Amino acid sequence: MENFVFHNPTKLIFGKGTIPKVGEEIKGAGIKKVLLLYGGGSIKKNGVYDQVVDSLRGNGIEWVEVSGVKPNPVLSKVREAIEVARREKVEAVLGVGGGSVIDSAKVVAAGVLYEGDIWDAFVGKYNIDKALPVFAVLTISATGTEMNGNAVITNEETLEKYGVSSKALYPKVSIVDPSVQATLPREQTVYGAVDAIAHILEYYFDGSSPEISNEIAEVTIKTIMKMTERLLADPNDYEARANFAWCTTIALNGTMAVGRRGGDWSCHRIEHSLSALYDIPHGAGLAIVFPAWMRYVYDERPEQFERFARKVFDLEGSGEELILNGIEAFKGWLRKVGAPVTLKDVGIPEQDIEKIVDNVMLLVEENLKPRKATFGKLKALGRDDVREILKIAAK
Ligand code: NZQ
Ligand code: ZN
Repeated sequence: MENFVFHNPTKLIFGKGTIPKVGEEIKGAGIKKVLLLYGGGSIKKNGVYDQVVDSLRGNGIEWVEVSGVKPNPVLSKVREAIEVARREKVEAVLGVGGGSVIDSAKVVAAGVLYEGDIWDAFVGKYNIDKALPVFAVLTISATGTEMNGNAVITNEETLEKYGVSSKALYPKVSIVDPSVQATLPREQTVYGAVDAIAHILEYYFDGSSPEISNEIAEVTIKTIMKMTERLLADPNDYEARANFAWCTTIALNGTMAVGRRGGDWSCHRIEHSLSALYDIPHGAGLAIVFPAWMRYVYDERPEQFERFARKVFDLEGSGEELILNGIEAFKGWLRKVGAPVTLKDVGIPEQDIEKIVDNVMLLVEENLKPRKATFGKLKALGRDDVREILKIAAK
């Protein structure tokens, strides 16, 4: 087991009927005016917006709104919201929505206090060390953004989708009421499941193998799979929603990182290029990339891939056959719940592979500090490796 520090400063308020607490929490932090940021309007249809503004009003909190944050959130919307936040002199940012909204809220909170263009933080020219306080009301469980310091934004002019990570970006308070997720379209529940499983697997396959973290990872993946199937059968199954939601939070709030090597994150890097170039949902991209990456790298740590097959899919046997059966079982489950598993499934032609490789490597070769021509923990990947993985993912 590697040494570790576990420090998660976010206060998480979880459960049915918890959204009306938001005003009290903001008031308790001594804040009188917030920027309320949200997406394309789902919160107006399912009553979340009303719950939030009633609570703000009831606690004497003033607010200004910016709406229209889109999935795979873009830099221009962030810049627009930063201007509004500055002009209106808000003291905090409240994101109400999913990863796209809350990530945008974090970047706006940092951008308000940074003199330059906040895109600098995404290309290694600025380390975010300060931000306005961020509050979050989560409406889709997937990314773990409600309890981490990460944010991912697309620069739609250059088609670059990059992430930032900072202690300053952890939400001060996040509210998760799983019952409001009953209105999610089926595929969004599935993409949320895939994303959370991918977060767990990024850590699981980073070359480390601490027993407690392995066990927690396996049981969390199995619980997500079970809860997803229940939710597809009945979107109003609250117990399934709640269990699912907590699994997705712990998938990326530091729990899965314990005793490990920081995670591999190759699949996320490759996926971010798919969602930057084709605007597909993050979870859909991961369902395509992850099994292909597994096939390409399992030789680096076969015993961990055998363990995955045995513990997550209850398969028997040994060696390469067991590993390949495990990867196929994973792919089979993804297909069963309706996720795409090939580039072809989302209409990306094989001829585009070189363009995708270029986008992935742009990030690696030009924009990361320190400059390095490979990425990934379990196996360092360069251009040729990315091309081979995408070929496996093609059909
Ligand atoms: O915009 P609205 O109308 O609200 O609709 C949203 C959106 O269309 C809808 N939705 C959300 N809650 C709903 C609902 N519809 C009905 N009922 C509800 N209760 O769902 C759609 C997807 O929302 P989005 O926020 O895009 O989903 P998600 O939470 O999966 O976020 C994805 C983004 O987060 C990034 C991804 O790359 C992607 O850009 N990630 C963020 C991470 C982080 N901060 O730690 C890590 C991840 O690896 C990921 O990269
Ligand atoms: Zn993810």
